[in-house]
Amino acid sequence: MRIHPSILSADFAKFGEELNSISSADSAHVDVMDNHFVPNLTFGLPVVERLQQVSPIPIDVHLMIENVDIEGPKYADLGVDSVTFHVEASKNPKQLARNLRASGSKAAAAIKPKTPVSEAMDLLAELDMLLIMTVEPGFGGQPLLQETLPKIAEAAKAIEAAGKKIMLQVDGGVTELNVSELARLGADSFVAGSAVFSAPDRTKQIEVLRKAAVAGLNNR
Ligand code: DX5
Ligand code: ZN
Repeated sequence: MRIHPSILSADFAKFGEELNSISSADSAHVDVMDNHFVPNLTFGLPVVERLQQVSPIPIDVHLMIENVDIEGPKYADLGVDSVTFHVEASKNPKQLARNLRASGSKAAAAIKPKTPVSEAMDLLAELDMLLIMTVEPGFGGQPLLQETLPKIAEAAKAIEAAGKKIMLQVDGGVTELNVSELARLGADSFVAGSAVFSAPDRTKQIEVLRKAAVAGLNNR
């Protein structure tokens, strides 16, 4: 059960300190947005390069950008742990996943709430992780969309049937109140932005989320 705080909810004026405050997490989730694929703009390659240099934990890049077939491998080249692209944005997702792995990062594909799980199925052989978005991508602090929950169970089943070791990540509206249920449904990797960064004690909150996820796993 892995916890990945999203630095979208961090104080952008002090990334170094903010990364140190989540050093007990499994990785730092970095949301790259280009104002085209989603209606928000965050940061790009030079900032992610510096985050990768100073972070005490691995970097998990979530690309919400167009032109990802060309731009995606540039992030993998920075030495980050994983790069996630949206299937809705890629013209050749299989090749992109191969290119990411060839550049030394894990390859992950994400689907938006309205994109069916079937859209990612013929990609599974090329992936280390599948991300089910549980909010419309673009902003932190939104409530989890309940209608996305069946997709988690569906994806978990497909991954099991494929016999591959593929992590199943959820992103959007994850809190200590719903993480057990998400784990029970089959997720094993949890992005949490506001739930971690707004907590008075982030280390404690990461532990609370992890324990709740383990409880859900034991309840499958
Ligand atoms: C949304 C981003 C998420 C976001 C999650 O488009 O992909 O990673 O930061 O934030 P919370 O956990 O606050 O919903
Ligand atoms: Zn994200």
